[in-house]
Amino acid sequence: MRILVINGPNLNLLGLREPDIYGTSSYQDLVNLIEEYRDAKEIVIDIKQSNYEGEIVELIQMAHGNYEGIVINPAAYTHTSIAILDALQAVGLPTIEVHISDLILREDFRKKSYIRAYCLTSIIGKGVKGYLLALDYLIKELEK
Ligand code: DQA
Repeated sequence: MRILVINGPNLNLLGLREPDIYGTSSYQDLVNLIEEYRDAKEIVIDIKQSNYEGEIVELIQMAHGNYEGIVINPAAYTHTSIAILDALQAVGLPTIEVHISDLILREDFRKKSYIRAYCLTSIIGKGVKGYLLALDYLIKELEK
């Protein structure tokens, strides 16, 4: 089983970035957490981060034929990017949306997610552990 985890802009600054909202784990801590999970499950999980919308679109396109599912936190592009939604729809892979913070409790502009309607489910407000919940969900779906 091969899964691609995609992180959007500013998630490389986890730890430094608004720790009261996003927690104190660094981006490397998040990568380590996912890699430990991957090693325990003995599946392939690749983890990518980009600050650029077009690069995220290209990662999604590249997933076609190379991965069976996607876990994505598009960060701020969640609330703006039809291009990322279009890429997910074009590629057609089972996808789970993750957000570290609880978008419901934040500014109104964070309540809109363009990708939500496409995704199998959204894991929101569970901190970095949300990625593992998303992976659990996706793996169960892929095993069906
Ligand atoms: C985020 C929430 C977004 O609104 C924000 O722009 C991010 C991170 C989250 O994981 O909570 O960069 O996706």
